[in-house]
Amino acid sequence: MDLVVNKVNLNGMIDVPSDKSISHRSIMFGAIAQGKTTIKNFLRGDDCLSTLKAFKDLGVKIEDDGETITVYGTGFSGLKQAKQAIDVGNSGTTIRLIMGILAGAPFTSQLFGDHSIAKRPMNRVMLPINQMGAKCSGHDGTEFPPLTVEGTEKLQPINYQMPVASAQVKSAILFAALQAQGESVVVEKEKTRDHTEDMIRQFGGEISVSGKEIRISGPQKLVGQEVIVPGDISSAAFFLVAGLIIADSRIVLNNVGLNPTRTGIIDVIEQMGGKLTIEETGSMANKAGTLTVETSELKGIEISGEIIPRLIDELPIIALLATQAEGITIIRDAEELKVKETNRIDAVANELNKMGANIEPTDDGLIIHGKTPLHSAKVTSYGDHRIGMMLQIAALLVKDGTVELEKAEAISVSYPRFFDDLNKLYR
Ligand code: S3P
Repeated sequence: MDLVVNKVNLNGMIDVPSDKSISHRSIMFGAIAQGKTTIKNFLRGDDCLSTLKAFKDLGVKIEDDGETITVYGTGFSGLKQAKQAIDVGNSGTTIRLIMGILAGAPFTSQLFGDHSIAKRPMNRVMLPINQMGAKCSGHDGTEFPPLTVEGTEKLQPINYQMPVASAQVKSAILFAALQAQGESVVVEKEKTRDHTEDMIRQFGGEISVSGKEIRISGPQKLVGQEVIVPGDISSAAFFLVAGLIIADSRIVLNNVGLNPTRTGIIDVIEQMGGKLTIEETGSMANKAGTLTVETSELKGIEISGEIIPRLIDELPIIALLATQAEGITIIRDAEELKVKETNRIDAVANELNKMGANIEPTDDGLIIHGKTPLHSAKVTSYGDHRIGMMLQIAALLVKDGTVELEKAEAISVSYPRFFDDLNKLYR
């Protein structure tokens, strides 16, 4: 499709879509808890709908009246073998977290997804859950989906030093640990998003976290709750950057979730000199706020180390931000970008360089030389929602000609209303 180009004056207010990570988990916790869970502001994007469908396939009663989703959980033991293989679509969070849940089920499940899922590494979850007693294997002896998960009701606890910084892997282990007999200890490589830990507590479970060390005992019973999903800072990120780099702009983003394990992009914007104000609206336990950005003069910085998991999904749009900053921005320690929906190091460098950026891909990140004007080009999302949205924001800077985006439909994975929201800002 042809993207929107040549914009100045983005002005207005957006209610950002609901948080993808929390939406997935709300269905999962609802399913494994006892009793009714109601979910408000569930993200009806393709990925979260894959999770919803997966749990229906596993025999969980789930109702959707268009506003509230109600999950009638009957505990881990209420899950039933699906009649067919479970399709996770494009969703890494669905497949990896379900592996941890199914590790303790007394039946065998098959999991598969799209072309991208078939290339995503699964050993990272397979190894720990197999160590706990499940039997999970990939396609033709590889670690890749389609996967078979043979669960066991006799899961053993685990003492696990995580080799990768990944909230999906951590969450899968925690779901398995909730079903194991005894105390598990998980030590993170770097602290990652902690929605699973928060929701274990919210659903009446016990978990203790001290720095990067997490202790959790099983088996535990959880109780259904009311979940209100906040807006997704990872979706807000596209309009935060748009407001900073498009001339004469001011954008207000309402109800953005501000869990501190997710707010690395705010730190980066502040360090680069961006004009950003935050008005906190949520409670201490569920931090949220209204974010306002304005066109800014920006400078290049280094982004590395412990901040990386706090902004891992925002790095493609941060790379675009850096193309509009004076000087060099260096992103290091982000090798995980290579195993996202696509190789995001290559995708960002290839596609933005086609538009005139000066970006060197490295083994674990990107070196971005700013500030560069961008011009028309034919680009692709590689089927990756975040690459697609980043390229649309980049296209706004193009003065003449067209920017044609292949595989634009991927955007509905996390932000089905993306183009409508963009449209509201320049009418
Ligand atoms: C997610 C964790 C991250 C993130 C993904 C969502 C989650 O993946 O990139 O979009 O909800 O746990 P990794 O665990 O692979 O870093």
